Amino acid sequence: KKWTRALRYQSYSKWPPATQQALLATVSTSPWRLGYHIQSDSGLLNDPNGFAYFNNKWHLYYQNFPFGPVHGLKSWRHLTSDDLVHWQKTAGDLLPDSAYDSHGAYSGSALPLGNQLFLMYTGNVRDANWQRHPYQNGAVLDQHNQLTKLSKPLISEPPAGYTSEFRDPQIIAKQDQYWAFIGGQTNDKVGTILVYQSNDLHQWDFMGPLQLDQPKIGYMIECPNLIQIGNTTVLISCPQGLAQSTLAYQNIYPNTYLLSDQVDWENLTFNAQYSLKLLDDGFDVYATQAINAPDGRALAVSWIGLPEIDYPTDRYGWAHCLSLIKELTIKDGHLYQYPVSENQKLRTDEQQFNVQATPAPTVIQANSGQQYELALNLAADQEITLHIAENSDASAFFEVKLNSKTGVVTVDRQAAGEPFAEKYGTVRTSQLPAHHAITLNLFVDHSVCEMYLNHGYTTLTARFFPKPGQQQLSVSSPTTAELTGKFWQLNAID
Ligand code: FRU
Repeated sequence: KKWTRALRYQSYSKWPPATQQALLATVSTSPWRLGYHIQSDSGLLNDPNGFAYFNNKWHLYYQNFPFGPVHGLKSWRHLTSDDLVHWQKTAGDLLPDSAYDSHGAYSGSALPLGNQLFLMYTGNVRDANWQRHPYQNGAVLDQHNQLTKLSKPLISEPPAGYTSEFRDPQIIAKQDQYWAFIGGQTNDKVGTILVYQSNDLHQWDFMGPLQLDQPKIGYMIECPNLIQIGNTTVLISCPQGLAQSTLAYQNIYPNTYLLSDQVDWENLTFNAQYSLKLLDDGFDVYATQAINAPDGRALAVSWIGLPEIDYPTDRYGWAHCLSLIKELTIKDGHLYQYPVSENQKLRTDEQQFNVQATPAPTVIQANSGQQYELALNLAADQEITLHIAENSDASAFFEVKLNSKTGVVTVDRQAAGEPFAEKYGTVRTSQLPAHHAITLNLFVDHSVCEMYLNHGYTTLTARFFPKPGQQQLSVSSPTTAELTGKFWQLNAID
Protein backbone atom coordinates (compact mmCIF):
# COMPACT_ATOMS: atom_id res chain seq x y z
CA LYS A 1 0.00 0.00 0.00
CA LYS A 2 1.26 3.48 -0.86
CA TRP A 3 0.74 5.72 2.12
CA THR A 4 -0.10 8.98 0.41
CA ARG A 5 -0.87 12.02 2.51
CA ALA A 6 -4.52 11.81 1.37
CA LEU A 7 -4.76 8.25 2.68
CA ARG A 8 -3.04 8.96 5.98
CA TYR A 9 -5.31 11.87 6.77
CA GLN A 10 -8.64 10.77 5.37
CA SER A 11 -11.39 10.76 7.97
CA TYR A 12 -11.98 7.53 9.86
CA SER A 13 -15.48 7.21 8.42
CA LYS A 14 -14.04 6.89 4.91
CA TRP A 15 -12.25 3.64 5.74
CA PRO A 16 -14.39 0.68 4.63
CA PRO A 17 -15.05 -1.73 7.52
CA ALA A 18 -13.79 -4.55 5.28
CA THR A 19 -10.37 -2.89 5.07
CA GLN A 20 -10.17 -2.75 8.84
CA GLN A 21 -11.25 -6.42 9.09
CA ALA A 22 -8.54 -7.39 6.62
CA LEU A 23 -5.96 -5.45 8.62
CA LEU A 24 -6.98 -7.18 11.85
CA ALA A 25 -6.64 -10.52 10.07
CA THR A 26 -3.11 -9.58 8.99
CA VAL A 27 -2.19 -8.50 12.52
CA SER A 28 -3.42 -11.85 13.84
CA THR A 29 -0.84 -13.65 11.67
CA SER A 30 2.01 -11.64 13.16
CA PRO A 31 4.78 -13.16 15.19
CA TRP A 32 5.99 -10.75 17.87
CA ARG A 33 2.59 -9.72 19.32
CA LEU A 34 2.96 -8.99 23.01
CA GLY A 35 1.61 -10.84 26.01
CA TYR A 36 1.69 -8.34 28.87
CA HIS A 37 2.46 -4.98 27.28
CA ILE A 38 -0.17 -2.56 26.01
CA GLN A 39 -0.39 -2.75 22.22
CA SER A 40 -2.94 -1.51 19.69
CA ASP A 41 -5.32 -3.88 17.92
CA SER A 42 -3.97 -2.58 14.64
CA GLY A 43 -1.95 0.24 13.16
CA LEU A 44 0.54 2.42 14.95
CA LEU A 45 0.64 3.16 18.66
CA ASN A 46 2.76 6.00 19.97
CA ASP A 47 2.78 8.31 22.98
CA PRO A 48 1.02 7.51 26.25
CA ASN A 49 -1.53 10.25 26.96
CA GLY A 50 -3.87 11.31 29.75
CA PHE A 51 -2.44 9.03 32.45
CA ALA A 52 -4.44 9.58 35.66
CA TYR A 53 -6.24 8.07 38.63
CA PHE A 54 -9.90 9.06 38.48
CA ASN A 55 -13.23 7.59 39.54
CA ASN A 56 -11.48 4.77 41.44
CA LYS A 57 -9.62 3.56 38.39
CA TRP A 58 -6.40 4.16 36.54
CA HIS A 59 -6.87 5.80 33.17
CA LEU A 60 -4.44 5.72 30.31
CA TYR A 61 -4.73 6.60 26.64
CA TYR A 62 -2.32 6.05 23.80
CA GLN A 63 -1.82 7.76 20.47
CA ASN A 64 -3.07 5.56 17.67
CA PHE A 65 -3.44 5.54 13.91
CA PRO A 66 -5.58 2.42 13.54
CA PHE A 67 -5.42 1.86 9.77
CA GLY A 68 -1.76 1.04 9.23
CA PRO A 69 1.74 1.10 10.75
CA VAL A 70 2.35 4.75 9.84
CA HIS A 71 1.88 8.17 11.40
CA GLY A 72 -1.51 9.26 10.06
CA LEU A 73 -4.62 10.80 11.53
CA LYS A 74 -4.12 10.24 15.26
CA SER A 75 -6.64 9.57 17.99
CA TRP A 76 -6.43 8.81 21.70
CA ARG A 77 -7.48 5.27 22.67
CA HIS A 78 -8.81 4.94 26.18
CA LEU A 79 -7.98 2.19 28.69
CA THR A 80 -8.87 1.77 32.35
CA SER A 81 -7.37 -0.47 35.00
CA ASP A 82 -7.76 -1.51 38.61
CA ASP A 83 -4.14 -2.54 39.03
CA LEU A 84 -1.88 -0.82 36.46
CA VAL A 85 -1.31 -4.21 34.87
CA HIS A 86 -4.60 -5.39 33.31
CA TRP A 87 -6.30 -2.84 31.07
CA GLN A 88 -9.80 -2.63 29.61
CA LYS A 89 -10.83 -0.73 26.53
CA THR A 90 -13.72 1.71 26.87
CA ALA A 91 -15.72 3.82 24.46
CA GLY A 92 -14.07 6.97 25.80
CA ASP A 93 -11.70 7.44 22.86
CA LEU A 94 -10.79 10.95 21.75
CA LEU A 95 -11.27 11.04 18.00
CA PRO A 96 -10.06 13.63 15.48
CA ASP A 97 -13.50 14.75 14.38
CA SER A 98 -13.64 18.51 14.85
CA ALA A 99 -12.36 21.60 13.04
CA TYR A 100 -9.82 22.06 15.85
CA ASP A 101 -8.22 18.62 15.54
CA SER A 102 -8.91 17.79 11.88
CA HIS A 103 -5.39 16.40 11.32
CA GLY A 104 -4.98 14.57 14.57
CA ALA A 105 -5.78 14.52 18.28
CA TYR A 106 -2.15 14.85 19.32
CA SER A 107 -0.60 14.23 22.71
CA GLY A 108 -1.67 15.69 26.01
CA SER A 109 -2.47 14.92 29.60
CA ALA A 110 -5.25 14.65 32.16
CA LEU A 111 -6.21 16.23 35.46
CA PRO A 112 -8.85 14.66 37.72
CA LEU A 113 -11.32 17.30 38.95
CA GLY A 114 -14.12 16.00 41.12
CA ASN A 115 -16.35 13.84 39.00
CA GLN A 116 -14.64 14.75 35.75
CA LEU A 117 -11.33 13.98 34.18
CA PHE A 118 -10.17 17.11 32.37
CA LEU A 119 -8.07 16.44 29.27
CA MET A 120 -5.84 18.93 27.51
CA TYR A 121 -4.46 17.92 24.13
CA THR A 122 -3.09 19.34 20.93
CA GLY A 123 -5.40 19.57 17.98
CA ASN A 124 -3.25 19.28 14.90
CA VAL A 125 -4.73 21.22 11.98
CA ARG A 126 -3.25 21.69 8.52
CA ASP A 127 -4.53 24.26 6.03
CA ALA A 128 -4.83 23.92 2.25
CA ASN A 129 -1.10 24.73 1.92
CA TRP A 130 -0.30 22.09 4.55
CA GLN A 131 0.72 24.79 7.01
CA ARG A 132 0.33 23.63 10.60
CA HIS A 133 -2.08 25.37 13.00
CA PRO A 134 -1.86 23.83 16.45
CA TYR A 135 -4.68 24.31 18.95
CA GLN A 136 -4.52 23.33 22.61
CA ASN A 137 -7.94 21.83 23.22
CA GLY A 138 -9.96 20.64 26.19
CA ALA A 139 -12.24 17.66 26.72
CA VAL A 140 -13.86 16.05 29.74
CA LEU A 141 -14.41 12.41 30.55
CA ASP A 142 -17.29 11.68 32.91
CA GLN A 143 -17.78 8.84 35.37
CA HIS A 144 -19.34 6.69 32.66
CA ASN A 145 -16.28 7.07 30.43
CA GLN A 146 -18.22 9.37 28.17
CA LEU A 147 -16.04 11.98 26.52
CA THR A 148 -17.14 15.49 25.58
CA LYS A 149 -14.93 17.96 23.78
CA LEU A 150 -15.05 21.62 24.72
CA SER A 151 -16.45 23.59 21.82
CA LYS A 152 -13.62 26.13 21.63
CA PRO A 153 -9.84 25.71 21.92
CA LEU A 154 -8.21 26.65 25.21
CA ILE A 155 -5.23 28.17 23.42
CA SER A 156 -5.66 29.10 19.77
CA GLU A 157 -2.15 29.88 18.64
CA PRO A 158 1.44 29.88 19.76
CA PRO A 159 2.60 33.09 21.45
CA ALA A 160 4.48 35.71 19.40
CA GLY A 161 8.07 34.64 18.81
CA TYR A 162 7.30 30.90 18.60
CA THR A 163 6.57 28.64 15.63
CA SER A 164 3.65 26.31 14.99
CA GLU A 165 5.68 23.42 16.47
CA PHE A 166 3.65 23.86 19.63
CA ARG A 167 2.16 20.76 21.25
CA ASP A 168 1.85 18.14 24.02
CA PRO A 169 0.44 20.14 26.96
CA GLN A 170 1.00 18.75 30.42
CA ILE A 171 -1.61 20.11 32.80
CA ILE A 172 -1.16 20.17 36.57
CA ALA A 173 -2.69 21.95 39.56
CA LYS A 174 -0.17 23.86 41.67
CA GLN A 175 -0.24 26.81 44.06
CA ASP A 176 -3.99 27.49 43.53
CA GLN A 177 -3.50 27.71 39.79
CA TYR A 178 -3.67 25.42 36.83
CA TRP A 179 -0.44 25.22 34.90
CA ALA A 180 0.27 23.90 31.44
CA PHE A 181 3.71 23.09 30.07
CA ILE A 182 3.79 22.92 26.29
CA GLY A 183 6.55 21.80 23.94
CA GLY A 184 7.65 24.45 21.48
CA GLN A 185 10.18 26.11 19.27
CA THR A 186 11.36 29.73 19.05
CA ASN A 187 11.29 31.53 15.72
CA ASP A 188 15.04 31.00 15.53
CA LYS A 189 14.50 27.26 15.94
CA VAL A 190 15.45 26.55 19.51
CA GLY A 191 13.56 23.96 21.53
CA THR A 192 11.67 25.36 24.50
CA ILE A 193 8.98 24.67 27.07
CA LEU A 194 6.20 27.27 27.25
CA VAL A 195 4.45 27.85 30.55
CA TYR A 196 0.79 28.84 30.82
CA GLN A 197 -1.44 29.53 33.82
CA SER A 198 -5.17 29.58 34.37
CA ASN A 199 -7.61 30.15 37.23
CA ASP A 200 -10.53 28.43 35.63
CA LEU A 201 -9.07 26.05 32.99
CA HIS A 202 -10.62 28.13 30.22
CA GLN A 203 -8.72 31.42 30.13
CA TRP A 204 -5.00 30.62 29.78
CA ASP A 205 -2.20 33.19 30.08
CA PHE A 206 1.26 32.76 28.66
CA MET A 207 3.80 33.26 31.46
CA GLY A 208 6.96 32.78 29.39
CA PRO A 209 9.40 30.00 28.57
CA LEU A 210 10.77 27.81 31.33
CA GLN A 211 14.35 29.05 31.81
CA LEU A 212 16.69 26.08 31.82
CA ASP A 213 20.32 26.63 32.76
CA GLN A 214 21.37 24.30 29.96
CA PRO A 215 23.01 24.62 26.56
CA LYS A 216 20.62 24.97 23.61
CA ILE A 217 18.19 22.07 23.78
CA GLY A 218 17.92 21.14 20.09
CA TYR A 219 15.39 22.66 17.68
CA MET A 220 12.21 21.33 19.32
CA ILE A 221 11.09 19.84 22.63
CA GLU A 222 8.30 17.28 22.52
CA CYS A 223 6.32 15.89 25.45
CA PRO A 224 7.57 18.04 28.36
CA ASN A 225 6.57 16.54 31.69
CA LEU A 226 7.21 17.73 35.23
CA ILE A 227 6.68 15.76 38.42
CA GLN A 228 7.63 16.26 42.01
CA ILE A 229 9.46 13.60 44.06
CA GLY A 230 10.02 14.89 47.59
CA ASN A 231 11.93 18.15 47.21
CA THR A 232 13.07 17.32 43.73
CA THR A 233 11.39 18.40 40.53
CA VAL A 234 11.93 15.98 37.67
CA LEU A 235 11.65 17.38 34.16
CA ILE A 236 11.26 14.72 31.50
CA SER A 237 11.29 15.74 27.84
CA CYS A 238 12.11 14.72 24.29
CA PRO A 239 14.52 17.18 22.68
CA GLN A 240 14.90 16.87 18.93
CA GLY A 241 18.16 17.85 17.25
CA LEU A 242 20.08 17.88 20.51
CA ALA A 243 23.87 18.33 20.03
CA GLN A 244 26.00 15.31 20.86
CA SER A 245 28.24 17.68 22.81
CA THR A 246 25.32 18.36 25.15
CA LEU A 247 24.44 14.70 25.60
CA ALA A 248 25.91 11.65 23.87
CA TYR A 249 23.02 9.59 22.51
CA GLN A 250 22.52 7.14 19.68
CA ASN A 251 18.77 6.97 19.14
CA ILE A 252 17.23 9.24 16.54
CA TYR A 253 15.87 11.39 19.38
CA PRO A 254 16.53 10.90 23.08
CA ASN A 255 14.10 10.91 25.98
CA THR A 256 15.89 12.91 28.68
CA TYR A 257 15.51 14.19 32.20
CA LEU A 258 16.78 16.90 34.51
CA LEU A 259 16.53 17.08 38.29
CA SER A 260 16.28 20.23 40.35
CA ASP A 261 15.53 21.17 43.90
CA GLN A 262 15.74 24.82 42.98
CA VAL A 263 12.82 25.66 40.76
CA ASP A 264 11.71 29.25 41.08
CA TRP A 265 8.11 29.16 39.92
CA GLU A 266 7.78 32.92 40.25
CA ASN A 267 10.53 33.55 37.73
CA LEU A 268 10.16 30.25 35.88
CA THR A 269 13.76 29.24 36.39
CA PHE A 270 14.75 25.61 36.62
CA ASN A 271 18.29 25.25 37.94
CA ALA A 272 19.32 21.68 37.30
CA GLN A 273 21.55 19.60 39.54
CA TYR A 274 23.25 18.02 36.54
CA SER A 275 23.16 18.37 32.80
CA LEU A 276 20.68 16.38 30.71
CA LYS A 277 20.66 12.64 31.20
CA LEU A 278 19.10 9.80 29.26
CA LEU A 279 15.99 8.42 30.86
CA ASP A 280 16.67 5.02 29.31
CA ASP A 281 20.01 3.75 27.99
CA GLY A 282 18.42 1.39 25.48
CA PHE A 283 17.11 1.71 21.94
CA ASP A 284 13.43 2.46 21.95
CA VAL A 285 12.06 4.67 24.73
CA TYR A 286 10.33 7.94 23.88
CA ALA A 287 7.55 10.30 25.00
CA THR A 288 7.49 9.11 28.62
CA GLN A 289 4.58 10.52 30.60
CA ALA A 290 4.80 10.68 34.40
CA ILE A 291 2.29 11.68 37.05
CA ASN A 292 2.14 12.26 40.77
CA ALA A 293 -0.50 9.70 41.64
CA PRO A 294 -2.87 10.23 44.58
CA ASP A 295 -1.41 7.18 46.36
CA GLY A 296 1.85 9.14 46.71
CA ARG A 297 3.76 7.34 44.03
CA ALA A 298 5.38 8.99 41.01
CA LEU A 299 4.43 6.78 38.07
CA ALA A 300 5.66 6.79 34.51
CA VAL A 301 4.86 5.03 31.26
CA SER A 302 6.81 5.25 28.02
CA TRP A 303 6.23 4.71 24.37
CA ILE A 304 8.49 1.81 23.33
CA GLY A 305 9.13 2.97 19.80
CA LEU A 306 10.67 5.94 18.06
CA PRO A 307 9.56 8.44 15.44
CA GLU A 308 10.71 7.98 11.83
CA ILE A 309 12.00 4.40 12.18
CA ASP A 310 10.63 1.32 10.40
CA TYR A 311 10.08 -1.78 12.51
CA PRO A 312 9.66 -5.39 11.30
CA THR A 313 6.06 -5.56 12.53
CA ASP A 314 5.10 -2.91 9.94
CA ARG A 315 4.49 -5.61 7.36
CA TYR A 316 1.92 -7.18 9.69
CA GLY A 317 0.01 -3.91 9.98
CA TRP A 318 0.95 -2.84 13.51
CA ALA A 319 3.77 -1.09 15.34
CA HIS A 320 4.97 -0.42 18.88
CA CYS A 321 3.76 -0.79 22.45
CA LEU A 322 3.79 0.94 25.81
CA SER A 323 6.22 0.09 28.60
CA LEU A 324 5.32 -1.47 31.91
CA ILE A 325 4.12 1.14 34.39
CA LYS A 326 7.21 2.27 36.30
CA GLU A 327 7.55 3.84 39.71
CA LEU A 328 10.04 6.70 39.92
CA THR A 329 11.95 7.34 43.11
CA ILE A 330 14.99 9.34 44.11
CA LYS A 331 17.77 7.92 46.24
CA ASP A 332 21.02 9.75 47.01
CA GLY A 333 20.15 12.33 44.38
CA HIS A 334 19.70 9.72 41.67
CA LEU A 335 16.51 8.92 39.73
CA TYR A 336 15.43 5.26 39.87
CA GLN A 337 12.78 3.64 37.67
CA TYR A 338 11.26 0.26 38.40
CA PRO A 339 8.11 -1.58 37.28
CA VAL A 340 5.34 -1.14 39.86
CA SER A 341 5.06 -4.03 42.30
CA GLU A 342 1.61 -4.87 40.92
CA ASN A 343 3.46 -6.51 38.01
CA GLN A 344 4.46 -9.34 40.33
CA LYS A 345 0.90 -10.62 39.96
CA LEU A 346 1.87 -11.86 36.52
CA ARG A 347 4.49 -14.25 37.91
CA THR A 348 3.99 -18.01 37.89
CA ASP A 349 6.31 -21.04 38.08
CA GLU A 350 9.13 -19.58 40.12
CA GLN A 351 12.46 -21.32 39.58
CA GLN A 352 15.80 -20.65 41.16
CA PHE A 353 19.14 -21.16 39.50
CA ASN A 354 22.74 -21.17 40.53
CA VAL A 355 25.50 -21.30 37.95
CA GLN A 356 28.93 -22.16 39.35
CA ALA A 357 32.12 -20.97 37.73
CA THR A 358 32.33 -22.84 34.44
CA PRO A 359 34.38 -22.56 31.29
CA ALA A 360 31.54 -23.89 29.12
CA PRO A 361 28.35 -22.18 28.02
CA THR A 362 25.58 -23.03 30.46
CA VAL A 363 21.93 -23.22 29.59
CA ILE A 364 19.80 -21.66 32.32
CA GLN A 365 16.51 -22.38 30.54
CA ALA A 366 16.37 -24.59 27.46
CA ASN A 367 12.88 -23.41 26.77
CA SER A 368 12.35 -20.06 28.39
CA GLY A 369 9.14 -19.31 26.57
CA GLN A 370 8.66 -15.74 25.47
CA GLN A 371 7.05 -14.15 28.50
CA TYR A 372 9.26 -14.18 31.52
CA GLU A 373 11.04 -12.25 34.20
CA LEU A 374 14.61 -12.98 35.14
CA ALA A 375 16.27 -11.66 38.28
CA LEU A 376 19.96 -12.24 38.74
CA ASN A 377 22.79 -11.21 40.99
CA LEU A 378 26.40 -10.97 40.01
CA ALA A 379 29.03 -10.43 42.68
CA ALA A 380 31.52 -7.54 42.40
CA ASP A 381 34.45 -7.80 39.99
CA GLN A 382 32.98 -10.47 37.72
CA GLU A 383 32.11 -10.66 34.07
CA ILE A 384 29.38 -12.64 32.36
CA THR A 385 27.66 -12.75 28.99
CA LEU A 386 24.02 -13.67 28.92
CA HIS A 387 22.13 -14.79 25.83
CA ILE A 388 18.40 -14.41 25.81
CA ALA A 389 16.20 -15.63 22.97
CA GLU A 390 19.00 -17.85 21.76
CA ASN A 391 18.48 -20.54 19.14
CA SER A 392 19.72 -24.10 19.59
CA ASP A 393 23.00 -23.69 17.71
CA ALA A 394 23.69 -20.40 19.50
CA SER A 395 23.91 -18.44 16.25
CA ALA A 396 21.02 -16.11 17.11
CA PHE A 397 20.63 -14.36 20.45
CA PHE A 398 20.10 -11.07 22.19
CA GLU A 399 23.25 -10.43 24.17
CA VAL A 400 23.63 -8.80 27.57
CA LYS A 401 27.11 -8.38 29.05
CA LEU A 402 27.51 -7.52 32.69
CA ASN A 403 30.88 -6.37 33.94
CA SER A 404 30.91 -5.69 37.66
CA LYS A 405 34.59 -4.66 37.58
CA THR A 406 34.00 -1.65 35.37
CA GLY A 407 30.25 -1.36 36.02
CA VAL A 408 29.59 -1.36 32.29
CA VAL A 409 26.53 -3.17 30.97
CA THR A 410 26.37 -3.74 27.22
CA VAL A 411 23.44 -4.97 25.18
CA ASP A 412 23.75 -6.01 21.56
CA ARG A 413 20.78 -6.88 19.35
CA GLN A 414 22.85 -7.41 16.18
CA ALA A 415 22.24 -11.19 16.14
CA ALA A 416 18.84 -11.10 17.84
CA GLY A 417 16.73 -11.86 14.79
CA GLU A 418 15.39 -9.61 12.11
CA PRO A 419 17.59 -6.53 11.71
CA PHE A 420 16.14 -3.01 11.87
CA ALA A 421 17.24 0.54 12.72
CA GLU A 422 20.85 -0.59 12.22
CA LYS A 423 21.76 2.90 11.06
CA TYR A 424 21.57 3.91 14.72
CA GLY A 425 23.83 1.09 15.89
CA THR A 426 23.03 -2.26 17.46
CA VAL A 427 24.82 -1.80 20.77
CA ARG A 428 23.93 0.28 23.81
CA THR A 429 25.73 0.59 27.12
CA SER A 430 24.87 1.67 30.60
CA GLN A 431 27.24 2.70 33.37
CA LEU A 432 26.81 1.42 36.91
CA PRO A 433 29.17 2.02 39.83
CA ALA A 434 32.39 0.02 39.31
CA HIS A 435 33.50 -2.77 41.68
CA HIS A 436 30.01 -3.40 43.00
CA ALA A 437 27.65 -6.32 42.71
CA ILE A 438 25.11 -5.94 39.90
CA THR A 439 21.48 -6.96 39.99
CA LEU A 440 19.55 -7.31 36.78
CA ASN A 441 15.78 -7.60 36.45
CA LEU A 442 14.83 -8.36 32.93
CA PHE A 443 11.33 -8.58 31.47
CA VAL A 444 10.99 -10.36 28.15
CA ASP A 445 7.74 -10.22 26.21
CA HIS A 446 8.08 -11.79 22.73
CA SER A 447 9.71 -8.81 20.98
CA VAL A 448 10.46 -6.42 23.80
CA CYS A 449 12.96 -6.59 26.62
CA GLU A 450 12.93 -4.14 29.51
CA MET A 451 16.04 -4.31 31.68
CA TYR A 452 16.35 -2.72 35.11
CA LEU A 453 19.84 -2.59 36.59
CA ASN A 454 20.55 -2.25 40.29
CA HIS A 455 16.84 -1.92 41.06
CA GLY A 456 16.35 0.74 38.41
CA TYR A 457 19.47 2.85 38.84
CA THR A 458 19.58 2.62 35.06
CA THR A 459 17.25 1.01 32.55
CA LEU A 460 17.74 -0.37 29.06
CA THR A 461 14.72 -1.00 26.87
CA ALA A 462 14.92 -2.79 23.54
CA ARG A 463 12.69 -4.15 20.83
CA PHE A 464 14.08 -7.19 19.03
CA PHE A 465 12.44 -9.54 16.54
CA PRO A 466 13.47 -13.16 17.03
CA LYS A 467 12.92 -15.90 14.48
CA PRO A 468 10.95 -19.01 15.47
CA GLY A 469 12.79 -21.28 17.87
CA GLN A 470 14.80 -18.66 19.74
CA GLN A 471 13.80 -19.96 23.14
CA GLN A 472 16.97 -20.57 25.10
CA LEU A 473 18.42 -18.58 27.96
CA SER A 474 22.10 -19.18 28.62
CA VAL A 475 25.32 -17.88 30.07
CA SER A 476 27.51 -17.99 27.05
CA SER A 477 31.02 -16.95 27.92
CA PRO A 478 33.45 -18.70 30.24
CA THR A 479 32.65 -17.37 33.64
CA THR A 480 34.55 -17.38 36.87
CA ALA A 481 31.52 -16.11 38.66
CA GLU A 482 28.88 -17.73 40.71
CA LEU A 483 25.61 -16.54 39.40
CA THR A 484 22.36 -16.84 41.29
CA GLY A 485 18.91 -15.84 40.32
CA LYS A 486 15.24 -16.48 39.84
CA PHE A 487 13.08 -17.01 36.84
CA TRP A 488 9.32 -16.66 36.43
CA GLN A 489 6.93 -17.22 33.59
CA LEU A 490 4.69 -14.20 33.24
CA ASN A 491 1.02 -14.49 32.40
CA ALA A 492 -0.57 -12.61 29.56
CA ILE A 493 -2.82 -9.70 30.47
CA ASP A 494 -5.82 -10.65 28.35
C1 FRU B 1 5.78 12.50 19.93
C2 FRU B 1 4.75 13.20 19.06
C3 FRU B 1 4.15 14.38 19.78
C4 FRU B 1 2.82 14.52 19.08
C5 FRU B 1 2.44 13.08 18.83
C6 FRU B 1 1.67 12.87 17.56
O1 FRU B 1 5.99 11.18 19.56
O2 FRU B 1 5.34 13.62 17.84
O3 FRU B 1 4.94 15.54 19.76
O4 FRU B 1 1.87 15.16 19.87
O5 FRU B 1 3.66 12.37 18.76
O6 FRU B 1 1.25 11.54 17.46
